[in-house]
Amino acid sequence: MRISVLNGPNLNLLGQREPEVYGRTTLSEIEAMVREAARGYDAEIDWFQTNHEGALVDAVQALKGRADGALINAAALTHSSMALRDALLAVQVPFVELHLSNIFAREPARRHSMITELALGMVTGFGPQSYVLALQALVGRLRAA
Ligand code: DQA
Repeated sequence: MRISVLNGPNLNLLGQREPEVYGRTTLSEIEAMVREAARGYDAEIDWFQTNHEGALVDAVQALKGRADGALINAAALTHSSMALRDALLAVQVPFVELHLSNIFAREPARRHSMITELALGMVTGFGPQSYVLALQALVGRLRAA
């Protein structure tokens, strides 16, 4: 099973960025956690982070035929990117949306996601554990399919 993990803008700064919101764990540490969890599921992980909307769109387009499913933390693009939504509609790859923080417990503008209704589901608010929980949920759904 091949799973792509796509990370959007500013997630490369995890560890230093607003630690009171996002904690002190770095993105590489989260990547290591996900890779370790994926070994238990016999899943192959492809890991990607970008600060650019077009690069994220390219990464979504590239999922077709290459990934069985995806975990997506689109960061701020979650709330704004029609291009990301259109790319996900075009490729039709099953994915779980995830966020470190609870987007419903923050500013009102963060409560809306452009992609939730296209996702299998959403995991939000569990810090780095959101990635591991989202992986577990995605693998469960892909195996059941
Ligand atoms: C985030 C939540 C977004 O609102 C924010 O723009 C991010 C990170 C999260 O993981 O909690 O950059 O996706």
